Amino acid sequence: MDSPNRSHFALDTPPLALGTTVTLCGWAHKVRNLGGLIFIDLRDRSGLIQIVIDPAVCPIPLASEVRSEFVIQVTGILRTRSQMNPALPTGNIECAATALIILNDALPPVISVSEDQSVEELTRLKYRYLDLRKPAQLHRFVMRHRVSAAIRDYLNREAFLEVETPILTKSTPEGARDYLVPSRVQKGRFFALPQSPQLFKQLLMMSGFERYYQIVKCFRDEDLRADRQPEFTQVDIEASFVNQDSILNLTEGLLKKVFETIGVSLSLPIQRMSYAEAMSRYGCDKPDLRFGMAFQDVSLLASAGDFQAFNTVVAQGGCVKGLCVPNGKAYLSRKILGELTESLGTEIKGISVVSYTDKAESSLSKFYTPEQLEALSAPFSPKTGDAILLLCHPNETLLLDALCSLRLQLGDRLGLRKDTFALLWVVDFPLFEKDPETGALMAMHHPFTSVHPDDIPLLQTDPEKARAQAYDIVLNGTEIGGGSIRIHRSDVQEQLFTLLNLSETQIRDKFGFFVDALKYGTPPHGGIALGLDRLVMLLTGATSIRDVIAFPKTQSASCPLTDAPSEVSQAQLKELGIN
Ligand code: AMO
Repeated sequence: MDSPNRSHFALDTPPLALGTTVTLCGWAHKVRNLGGLIFIDLRDRSGLIQIVIDPAVCPIPLASEVRSEFVIQVTGILRTRSQMNPALPTGNIECAATALIILNDALPPVISVSEDQSVEELTRLKYRYLDLRKPAQLHRFVMRHRVSAAIRDYLNREAFLEVETPILTKSTPEGARDYLVPSRVQKGRFFALPQSPQLFKQLLMMSGFERYYQIVKCFRDEDLRADRQPEFTQVDIEASFVNQDSILNLTEGLLKKVFETIGVSLSLPIQRMSYAEAMSRYGCDKPDLRFGMAFQDVSLLASAGDFQAFNTVVAQGGCVKGLCVPNGKAYLSRKILGELTESLGTEIKGISVVSYTDKAESSLSKFYTPEQLEALSAPFSPKTGDAILLLCHPNETLLLDALCSLRLQLGDRLGLRKDTFALLWVVDFPLFEKDPETGALMAMHHPFTSVHPDDIPLLQTDPEKARAQAYDIVLNGTEIGGGSIRIHRSDVQEQLFTLLNLSETQIRDKFGFFVDALKYGTPPHGGIALGLDRLVMLLTGATSIRDVIAFPKTQSASCPLTDAPSEVSQAQLKELGIN
């Protein structure tokens, strides 16, 4: 596309011959007026270039009026820069201006675009259009664009069809609260914004589309965190006549292409771990595998001595578990151990330490024979200088939570959670979990997930133990995607709804259309959805999901720029039938 005002972008200039005349457009990034000589760093989408206005060579009266963030058009001649700037791709050249037009002036920017100031996030979001002018910000969106383009390209080649599904729809069961939209035409009725296109993508399989994808906005009214937004984007995928391996392999191929956009060559296949192993070795279903420190259960060995704390817990049916901190002996000072213990809360009474040189040493040694202490440390395979940290609690879930937090804190403190990428498939999730308040069975993924073929009999006898054909993909300890093989038979779907204690009326109300559709020839199918924002956040090294969303919401789910959500007029409410 040609631009009548511009002959080149800043970054196009380095290969041009010195003496070439160019016309550039952009913003005055930095202006330095040295009496006669004026230097302007002109910024356009491609980057920066230095403009020099030398009244002795070519007087430009307007030049002294240019201020930060004015929009300008400059014509000039490329020449060698006297003071090179190796930090800039255009750092060897400058443009000696022969003409300058101020296309628009600008108020002094509330947020400096050129200086790295620390500005409160609320201000940055209120003036997001200024904040986004920062080259580092722009870079993340260029990366986001490249990732989306690579995804589209890959899925198009794999014969997937991009299909749009409705935004004004009915509630989808992904476990969060819905955003509701009142209907004006049918007063008292509401649309829900989709928490995901789950039901529609399954309906498209019933329609015979066979391979569907969509890069799609989803909406969930839930508590926000650094990796959660109320409005976020999924790469949503569904395919027919597939099994779990088909979806995992497809996703791996996709991720390989995505990682190529940041110059990283992924080695495939990606490691797989069962949910049960992830929980027992790392205390969570999304372990960060950039570092080790997997847990060992040493309940039996720990209760072989006379240490009351361990013996009591084991007698109560609880366990003693621990992890081994590489070079932890020197690192884990009394102060650090104190801080770590405090961070675990009051339920965990203390952290016991066994350090290792050529033999195990510990303040616990008075409770154990040297052989018992050796045996207690052996499962951790410690090396000289390592320290084993042991925790105990009667409730295993609570103990695993504490160990998980301890491991992640140690990973952070020891600088082990950076500079690499560790991908992991977590598979064989339980089909159900129990509502902590009512004890009722709930779908762990969603109620359309099929049971693991080996566990079908368990649905009758012990449904809580049944595994699902569900999988999550984890990157550096963050869940970046999840999916499952779906139930494609209506009788099985109804059986599942029954196990979930849904009445006939509830099934009809919520999913009647879906259960009906299942009866008209549904192929076996399955899929996955990747969280695009989370993926890009991790790929670009951003610390918050907000950094990779152009206009994100704050922690309190509002937009300081537009002041949304905002009140509406009585007239609008009346029209919607809302008092
Ligand atoms: P799930 O609920 O696991 O699966 O969502 C898929 C992925 O979407 C991302 N994600 C989010 N990202 C930012 N903010 C949020 N609030 C948020 N919630 C989820 C995560 C997550 O892994 N329909 C199923 C997919 C399927 O079964 O095919 C679903 O939505 O990265």
